Amino acid sequence: MLLPASFLFVFGKNQPERHEDVVEHFKYGSIGAEERAGVPYEIWRVLPALFPEHLPQRSGKGYEKFGLLFEAPDKIRPIGSSYRQRQVALVGLNCAVCHTGVLRDAPGAPRRIVLGMPAHQFDLQSYEEFFFACARDPRFTGDYILSGIRSANPKFSWFDALLYRWFVIPRTRSGILEQSRNFAWFEGRPRQGPGRVDTFNPYKVMFGFDMTGDHTIGTADLPSLWNQRVREGLWLHWDGNNSAVTERNKSAAIGAGASEASLDLESMKRVEDWILDLKPPEFPRDKIDKGRIAAGKKLFDAHCAGCHELGHPLTGQTIEQVQIGTDPERVNSFTRELCEKMNTLGTGRPWKFSHFRKTGGYAAMPLDGIWLRAPYLHNGSVPTLRDLLKPPEERPTVFWRGYDVYDYVNVGFVSDGEQAQREGFRFDTVLKGNRREGHTYGTNLRAGEKDDLIEFLKTL
Ligand code: HEC
Ligand code: HEC
Repeated sequence: MLLPASFLFVFGKNQPERHEDVVEHFKYGSIGAEERAGVPYEIWRVLPALFPEHLPQRSGKGYEKFGLLFEAPDKIRPIGSSYRQRQVALVGLNCAVCHTGVLRDAPGAPRRIVLGMPAHQFDLQSYEEFFFACARDPRFTGDYILSGIRSANPKFSWFDALLYRWFVIPRTRSGILEQSRNFAWFEGRPRQGPGRVDTFNPYKVMFGFDMTGDHTIGTADLPSLWNQRVREGLWLHWDGNNSAVTERNKSAAIGAGASEASLDLESMKRVEDWILDLKPPEFPRDKIDKGRIAAGKKLFDAHCAGCHELGHPLTGQTIEQVQIGTDPERVNSFTRELCEKMNTLGTGRPWKFSHFRKTGGYAAMPLDGIWLRAPYLHNGSVPTLRDLLKPPEERPTVFWRGYDVYDYVNVGFVSDGEQAQREGFRFDTVLKGNRREGHTYGTNLRAGEKDDLIEFLKTL
């Protein structure tokens, strides 16, 4: 996504960081995405200190301001970043950057990091734009960058300094600038904000499509990764465009910056196997009104299970957009032309894609761990489950996304009030692609019935 780094690999060794423990591997291992999206480690590390004015106005320091999660104060790299040792070591992204979330019980309470949960706090668009802004800055010179590198790493050798001054720094800059032109389509589309990325428009650029006449918005809320085993054969991705779990996994790695050749299949396989049976954490039992669960389950069976429970005919199938009524942008952005191209990925390789299809709606998916998948719907336009059960015109028009304090009553993140406004991203449901319409199931239930249903949904 950021830097076509292949030019850096003329010399020497090529070692991805290895982690015996699969959990460490998920958090920090490489999936081969440094190929197109790697940034030289020494440069990556110092950019926030050298260009603080290009960082977003969020809390935390350095890369934390993008919602990236550092496990301890002395960690240099966040969860979701990978490291590949070459003559020039590279930092890339892996699955965990978009699929690891965080929550807290109250402001100031300890944070809880949950692997496989949507990274509702991570702002990928701002992260990418930060590199573009740094590269455009006239101070992105050998002298300035090396001054930063030397103070962060006193052991940086004179040989590396030469290599960086004459080769790595200028090529990194031109590589990032070249990439920024590939993201010209960001202009004119509403900001994605934390927890959402445009899934398929980057592939159009990768395939060399002309984007000038394409105004579709593919911005989608990040999904959870747990329980992939039961999802095999279901039509998933938000628009139900693919029924093969391994293709969904590999296309994600390519989306994150791997190329067909650089895709680290062995490393991917470890992640793929691990998420087959990864379980969501339980909703805190002491925060469920247990007396309502049985009544809630009856309502769920009557109004929801037919589309959302495994074994029912519509679960894992696509519901036409005209019927479901949610925002049409995401499904329209995945065009027939792109679909054909997606099925050419991996040509000549044993894993060649063949399962992509063009649909006209959105997938009805299992609701496991739904409490941690807020905000809701494919475009993340509804902050809480309680809001989703309101008629669309009563759902919030504007709310704040990306704040990590959890609202156990309404089931979702705190999305309004002073703190959420300061920490979060202002989400406007009036903008194209952000509509809060549709999915009116359960909206006619009586208030007490909605309370029952919500208590049951907490148990999923
Ligand atoms: C840049 C962010 C990002 C990264 C990195 C990423 N994903 Fe995702 N992933 C997404 C988004 C967004 C979707 C939803 C796509 C859509 O339907 O629009 C998704 C969907 C998925 C799905 C389908 C989920 C469902 O229920 O439909 C799977 C499986 C998945 N990703 C696995 C992975 C794996 C494995 C990796 C690492 C190889 C990975 N992802 C890396 C953003 C990411
Ligand atoms: C006719 C099929 C159908 C029925 C009935 C149905 N849903 Fe859905 N549901 C869907 C589809 C399709 C989506 C995806 C829509 C989108 O994102 O645009 C969805 C999305 C959702 C989501 C958001 C998931 C996420 O990860 O953001 C929740 C929560 C949900 N439904 C709950 C319910 C509840 C509760 C009921 C019963 C009151 C219900 N649904 C009834 C088809 C259905």
